[in-house]
Amino acid sequence: MAKKIFSGVQPTGNLHLGNYIGAIKNFVDLQNEPENNCVFCVVDLHAITLKQDPLELKNNIRETAATFIASGIDPTKSIIFNQSLVPAHSEGSWILSCIARMGWLNRMTQFKEKAGKDKEKASVGLYIYPVLMAADILLYDATHVPVGDDQKQHLELCRDIAQKFNNDYNVKDVLVPPEPLIQKQFSRIMSLKDGQKKMSKSDVSDLSRINLTDDKDKIVNKIKKAKTDPHPIPENVKDLDQRPEAENLLGIYSSLKRQSIEKTLEEFGGKNFSEFKNNLSELLVSNIEPISKEIKNLLNNHDHLDKILLDGGIKANEIAEKKVREIKKIIGF
Ligand code: TYM
Repeated sequence: MAKKIFSGVQPTGNLHLGNYIGAIKNFVDLQNEPENNCVFCVVDLHAITLKQDPLELKNNIRETAATFIASGIDPTKSIIFNQSLVPAHSEGSWILSCIARMGWLNRMTQFKEKAGKDKEKASVGLYIYPVLMAADILLYDATHVPVGDDQKQHLELCRDIAQKFNNDYNVKDVLVPPEPLIQKQFSRIMSLKDGQKKMSKSDVSDLSRINLTDDKDKIVNKIKKAKTDPHPIPENVKDLDQRPEAENLLGIYSSLKRQSIEKTLEEFGGKNFSEFKNNLSELLVSNIEPISKEIKNLLNNHDHLDKILLDGGIKANEIAEKKVREIKKIIGF
């Protein structure tokens, strides 16, 4: 069945292996099923919910687009654009913020994490961030949204908003509640330094993550220093319980090899971590180094990247603007 795919990534620097395995790698697989229509967005309006330096933001927008392309997203097959080019996202977000309920937003765990202790000082944008995300998705009638596990709650909210709009205005399926596409395994890649913490661009330690711009030496060094435990690799999955670091590294290996964790345990069960780490480093280098080199190549030509984003923006604008017009008519504007 043909799917309408939409997903987004924030241009806040340090895109990492978690973004790749949890999201971007799946974008590429979905794009490569020819019947799918895919839109991939650099969500720069989301980025400014936390303060950004203007020059850095501009660079990060290009770098995120370059990462999409270097990972295999093809701008002749998929629409790639940055959100701020399409005014319908802001307009749609306002309208949907009048549909979403305070109680729904109060439950969002990511806001609580990002706002920290002093939530009075968080921006209002950070609070209504998931409403903008809902607008992103609903303006494209997306049927499927590939994301990592941490976005699950936001997608549930998006479905609630779509359903409430359709009910409130007594229209059928004007807003399409999307299906999340979250992999059963490997949808949450953890820090290399602490298997209980998500791999994240905001972690102060660069050793906690593999950046998609890391070269071979950095990758090898980070895997060498990655936290493990003193036991050998187990023979079966059950024995990975209470061993989050081992589970994470084996998960990364399995995901890149496109095989089950059981298969990986068949390969390495009983062996020690140093042998496994050599294999993991090799696999990571062969997957990530070509991406890292291509990102650098692409960033040498800003005009080329800007043109891809602009062309994508024109196509995205056509779709999203039409949807906002339909919504406004229903509302009575
Ligand atoms: P963002 O920019 O934080 O992350 C981009 C994608 O990477 C996934 N991800 C991970 N997956 C596995 N393990 C990890 N450690 C890890 N860290 C990040 C995220 O789940 C995400 O899929 N709100 C979104 C961006 C967004 C969006 C949208 C997504 C805005 N509008 C519409 C989908 C549809 C975000 O902040 O992602």
